[in-house]
Parts: sequence; C-alpha cells; structure tokens
Amino acid sequence: MNAEIQNLRAPAELRHADELARLAEADNAPRPAGWQLSPRAVRRFILGDPKLGVARKFYGDDPLVDRAIVSLMSRQGLMLVGEPGTAKSMLSELLGAAISGTSALVVQGSAGTNEDHIRYGWNYALLLAEGPTERALVPSPVLNAMRSGRIVRFEEITRCPPEVQDALISILSEKSLALPELGADRVEAARPGFNIIATANLRDRGVHEMSSALKRRFNFETVHPIDDPAFEKELVLRQLAERLEPEAVAVKGAEDVAELLVRTFQDLRSGRTAEGASLNRPDAVMSTAEAVNVLHAAALEAAYLDDGKLGGGHVARQIQGVVLKDSPDDGKKLRAYVDHIVKERAARSGLWKEFYTAARALKLG
Ligand SMILES: Nc1ncnc2c1ncn2[C@@H]1O[C@H](COP(=O)(O)OP(=O)(O)O)[C@@H](O)[C@H]1O
Ligand SMILES: [Mg+2]
Repeated sequence: MNAEIQNLRAPAELRHADELARLAEADNAPRPAGWQLSPRAVRRFILGDPKLGVARKFYGDDPLVDRAIVSLMSRQGLMLVGEPGTAKSMLSELLGAAISGTSALVVQGSAGTNEDHIRYGWNYALLLAEGPTERALVPSPVLNAMRSGRIVRFEEITRCPPEVQDALISILSEKSLALPELGADRVEAARPGFNIIATANLRDRGVHEMSSALKRRFNFETVHPIDDPAFEKELVLRQLAERLEPEAVAVKGAEDVAELLVRTFQDLRSGRTAEGASLNRPDAVMSTAEAVNVLHAAALEAAYLDDGKLGGGHVARQIQGVVLKDSPDDGKKLRAYVDHIVKERAARSGLWKEFYTAARALKLG
C-alpha cells in the first residue's frame, strides 16, 4: 500500500485505483467526450461488479445513480440534496473520480465563499509586478475544471450567499467564462467533459434560497437515508471492517450488534418501529454515517476496554453521544424508546437485554 492510501482519508481515485484500472481495461462501451470511463463503467464503479472485483459503494437507490450519470452527460449540472450523512459528498467524489480521474477539484461552500472561489483570483505580487497577466491569474477549481474538461464538485452550495452562487449561472448556461482583465474579448470555453456536481444539506439554510435562475441549470436529485435494514447492515459492517483494519485488535459479535444498531436507527429515523408502533422521532440526524460512527466506537470500547466481544451495552453507551447533541428533548425521546420498545425486545433477546440495561443507566434527560 503506498503512503498516500495510508493517510486517514485518501481521495477516491487513489483508494480505488485498482478497481478503476480494471474497469478501464475492460471498458469498450461508448464514452462521452472528455470522460475517462464509459457511463456503464462509471455505474459499475459505484454499484459494484463482482466479476471485475469491484465493490458496491453506494447503497439503496440504483436508479438515482443512473440519473446522476445521465445528468452529467447532459448540459445540466447535478444537484444532490438531502439530510446530512446520506452520502451526497461520497457520491460526488466517486462520480468525479470515475468520470474525470480526479475528485480533487472542489469548492467548499461557506459564508466566506466569494466569487473568486468560483471564477478566478489574482496573485497580488505578480499582479503588481506585471499587471493582469495569465501568470498572475489564479484559477478557481471551477476554471481549472473548465480548462481540463473535468467534473468540479461544489460542496454545501447553499451555505454561500445566493449572489455568490449566481456566479455559476453563466458558467453553466454558456459553458464559458469571460476573463476581461486579460483582454476585452478573452473568453475561456469549457472543454468537453466539464460539469458541476453540487451538494446541499436540507438542514442548512435550505435550497429555497437558491435563485430560480440557478436552480434551472441543475437537475435535482434527493438522496434519502437507506431504508432497507439489510443493506444498511451490510454497509455498516463493511465500513466497520475497513475502520478496524489498521487496529491491532479483533472484535467478535459485530454481526448481531450491527443488526440491533440498524434496527434502532431505522426505528428512530422513521418514527415507526419494526413491530409497527409509532414513536417520537428525535431531531438528531440518525444517518448511516452516524450509525457507522457508533458501531466503530462501540467496537473500540469492546476491544480496548473490554474482552473484545461487542455487546448491546457498548452500543447503548455510544449512541448517547449521537442522539444527545443539541436537543434535551431528544434524550426524553430516546428514553421513551428504551422504556417501551427496547424493554419489550429485552424480554426475548439477550442482546437487547444488554442494550436495555445499559441504556437505563444513561442520563438521558
Ligand atoms: N446510501 C449509502 N451508501 C453508501 N454509504 C452511505 C450511504 N449513506 C451513508 N453512507 C455512509 O455515510 C458516509 C457519510 O456520507 P457523506 O458523503 O459525508 O454524507 P453527506 O455529504 O450526504 O452529508 C459515507 O461516506 C458512507 O460511509
Ligand atoms: Mg457532505
């Protein structure tokens, strides 16, 4: 394994370099101009292909992936919206890596994002020394992507002020960017393969503040939390294995505990239990990403502070930090879930009994 892959978070094109190479080798389907892989191969990269030894990476909505790929071939940009932790960023990274060979062209949206981050800025020392020259111009990731015919990602676009977002309108509609400082008629035209994937969290300021002119330039796709418990379990177990790989310890019992954990998350997320009872949903984001964090922490506790056997108690203790983030009411909702639903299951299963006992001992408001 090379050093970069060992970094805590290497980009997707490095982490999956072997898979991408195998897909490219086997790829003889038609490819849009500027694309590194055919749309079919891009889909295989994201949804998996056992024959080529390519793992599934995105779970739960295969047609969404197809539509996303089609959007990126079209003249429209792609806007992925949804709750936090639904893999919007992951999906945009995978699409960038597969289509353009890089997921590194990124604009991170924030209150401090300005037009220079979307268009171009200047190296002020050079600007003073030689005026507005090509050398003094500092291209944004968007301009870089236009010049190289690649995908640029725009993370959390709704966190930037709408008037800043609007700098994208002409880029998306004309597929070109004027550079008036370099000459009155100097226009940079995007090479084929250029497009934008933006992501937006529904819990942030919200997409309603995006101008309708900009909205029209994007195809919107809503990414939902995984609703199939079997899928979610498979995913959390796979990610747990990945996270534990560098650890020098072994953990037993993860299968059953993952089932309990996913059940709990799905119940609380949907406000409806597997048995059909309704309950009060916590305001906290009960995303798959949080479920992975809980299972990972529970496994670390079991491995390093216990005997290595994961149990319901480890989950109960770790779930508290996820659910009780900022709303005291959420603690009461979790308490009610424990007192009614978990208690009933505890009568029938040892694992749920452990969960119940440990959860009762928590201070849940
Ligand atoms: N449907 C899904 N398929 C695969 N992984 C998922 C899914 N939903 C959530 N995840 C996990 O959650 C993690 C966090 O997702 P992220 O892309 O940061 O979410 P978002 O950008 O929507 O907030 C992903 O890296 C992945 O591990
Ligand atoms: Mg994100």
